[in-house]
Amino acid sequence: MSDRVRSRRVLILGGTGEARDLARLLAAADVPFVSSLAGRVRNPRLPVGEVRIGGFGGVDAMAEWLTDNGITDVVDATHPFAARITPHAVSASRTAGVRYLRLARPAWEQGAGDRWVRVPDIDAAADAVAVRGGRVMLTTGRQDVAAFAAIRDAWFLIRVVDEPDGAMPPQRIVLRSRGPYGIDDERRLLRDHRIELLVTKNSGGAMTAAKLRAAAELGIEVIVVDRPAEPEDVDTAGTAADAADAILDGPPVADGQYRRGV
Ligand SMILES: NC(=O)c1ccc[n+]([C@@H]2O[C@H](COP(=O)([O-])OP(=O)(O)OC[C@H]3O[C@@H](n4cnc5c(N)ncnc54)[C@H](OP(=O)(O)O)[C@@H]3O)[C@@H](O)[C@H]2O)c1
Repeated sequence: MSDRVRSRRVLILGGTGEARDLARLLAAADVPFVSSLAGRVRNPRLPVGEVRIGGFGGVDAMAEWLTDNGITDVVDATHPFAARITPHAVSASRTAGVRYLRLARPAWEQGAGDRWVRVPDIDAAADAVAVRGGRVMLTTGRQDVAAFAAIRDAWFLIRVVDEPDGAMPPQRIVLRSRGPYGIDDERRLLRDHRIELLVTKNSGGAMTAAKLRAAAELGIEVIVVDRPAEPEDVDTAGTAADAADAILDGPPVADGQYRRGV
């Protein structure tokens, strides 16, 4: 292991496939790291290596944790729709004087044959469903199901990893499953349940993209929730491999401090 690599200790903010890929790459390169999960999913897919689970307790507490744990680099590989942790991580990294890198997979782009209706947030998605009604497949995740709870004139196929614990629309079935999903299964699911409308966040990535192709093939309209704003003026990577390269090729740690943008 080179001195440059040994001098680092990376915090991967995770909960995504990219974060697990990065953990594998850093482990293979002998870079010291720890992964962090929020603890939302009951049986999370764990990355290789050391893992801590649970919130930090806000920006100041995260900054303290970074210092206490000798972190030199934060790679924020949280989900594009995890809108609170990312600004927290940017601020905490600045306060603690550690390098921050945002690893976010590219958004999906509308292609030929896609019948997308783009909306700015989950409440706007619920409004769009309420005016359309019909048979709806909801793939926005457990935490967003409650936004659709008041809709009585639509039937929902709600696909989630864990059973939602909040309010749900009255006409529904809950399908518990976890990706990745293939095109044949997605086509069959949409057909079997005679789905007329699909609702998704623009999460991006390959693991859950097949539903969009299947919907396009079947001429099904898709309500696509746009991503929240990403932080500005930060280093970014679109893949785990790029993030690993940025860590391995990054400047040597001088006194453990970056203090970029403070
Ligand atoms: N939102 C989604 O659609 C979605 C989809 C797939 C996976 N995920 C993953 O699930 C996690 C939670 O998502 P969310 O939307 O509830 O996040 P969020 O609203 O951005 O974060 C809420 C709070 O949860 C804690 N937290 C979030 N991610 C954390 C992490 N990786 N390690 C430690 N604490 C974390 C932080 O608590 P403190 O303020 O106490 O530090 C944060 O303030 C994220 O890590 C994300 O990558 C989210």
